[in-house]
Amino acid sequence: MASWLRQVARTPQQDSFELLSRPGMLSLALGLPAAELFPGDALARAAGSLSSVAALQYRAPEESLKPHVIELMSARGVRCSASQIFFTVGAQQGMSLLLRLLLDPGQEVMAEEISYTGFAGALAPHDCRLLTVPTNVETGIDVDAVEALLRGGARPRVLYVMADGHNPLGVSLPLEKRRRLAALAREYAFYILEDDAYGQLCFGANSPAIRSFEDRWVLYIGSFSKILAPSLRLGWVVVPEELAAELANVKEGSDLDVASFSQHVASAALGTGFLGKHIAALKEEYRQRRDAMERALAAHFPSSASWSHPEGGFFTWVDLPRHLNATQLLRRSADEERVAFMPGGAFSMRPGAGDSCMRLSFSYCAPAVIEDGVARLGRLLRSV
Ligand SMILES: Cc1ncc(COP(=O)(O)O)c(C=O)c1O
Repeated sequence: MASWLRQVARTPQQDSFELLSRPGMLSLALGLPAAELFPGDALARAAGSLSSVAALQYRAPEESLKPHVIELMSARGVRCSASQIFFTVGAQQGMSLLLRLLLDPGQEVMAEEISYTGFAGALAPHDCRLLTVPTNVETGIDVDAVEALLRGGARPRVLYVMADGHNPLGVSLPLEKRRRLAALAREYAFYILEDDAYGQLCFGANSPAIRSFEDRWVLYIGSFSKILAPSLRLGWVVVPEELAAELANVKEGSDLDVASFSQHVASAALGTGFLGKHIAALKEEYRQRRDAMERALAAHFPSSASWSHPEGGFFTWVDLPRHLNATQLLRRSADEERVAFMPGGAFSMRPGAGDSCMRLSFSYCAPAVIEDGVARLGRLLRSV
């Protein structure tokens, strides 16, 4: 095994899959899209309409999909051309390829102290120095702390951030912070990896993506997983043209292509013009599930707990009293209440961050199930 692997612990997701497979477990743990909202018919019709030569052969990236991405980007306030769009195997591969493209050993990388586990996974093989900055559920990444590190001499190559529907905090960044981050990237010449996997699913205020303020230093990562289906394994990045050519080399050495079948299915489905209505329906359903989560928390959790008010994405973040350890609680919760959640420590980029917090997903379960799960968790919390 390579030496970096010896330092990688079993991921919390792997543990929670084990818990979830126990019979009768109610899961508020995984951030899965609502299965009943998958556009199965639209995708099946699209698949049926394809010519096998186009869809089954090794192929160059599917140009007919790019105008649809350009439209999605325009909804995020970002203007881009087809030559700046690069398809990836989901947002996850987007971040992974960009890190391989940009990082040399020993370089600094900046991230929030509580962040997406998949980013930690993508970063793990790189021998880099991680600088963490505070973050919180109300206003997101502490931009003053970013600036203080930069003024103090930090020279990160990359800053990773989610401006909307943060996983796991659920926060969306205020407009002013987006502007300031873009300006700092320009001034100090570092790349922002803007992971916008949930950017099309803002059910509150819809602020423009960070890339709309800076197109040289902000590299945008998008995904069809949450708006079509994760099994397509289809995402994209928007980068300056000169990086796109180099990115193609990195991608080719990794896995040649994004599945042409997925690209063609997505393109044919989006060609029918159904996506606008579909996204509106998704936003409405997820907003209702967010509301159900908040009502249930207010009704069942002790007053010593507080939680985020997500304006997008799939997750609510709950702060418990400091003396509680959410990883220990999860074991009791699974054994005694048969409810699973993600303990906050799973998302910590700085040891100790988030230990007394839990991430509850409202995306996958119907409102009545959310209510039931939160009521059971509340019962457990009152007993500890
Ligand atoms: C913040 C964030 N980025 C990226 C991903 C990966 O998405 P994809 O399925 O597009 O690879 C996820 C998946 O849950 C996510 O939450």
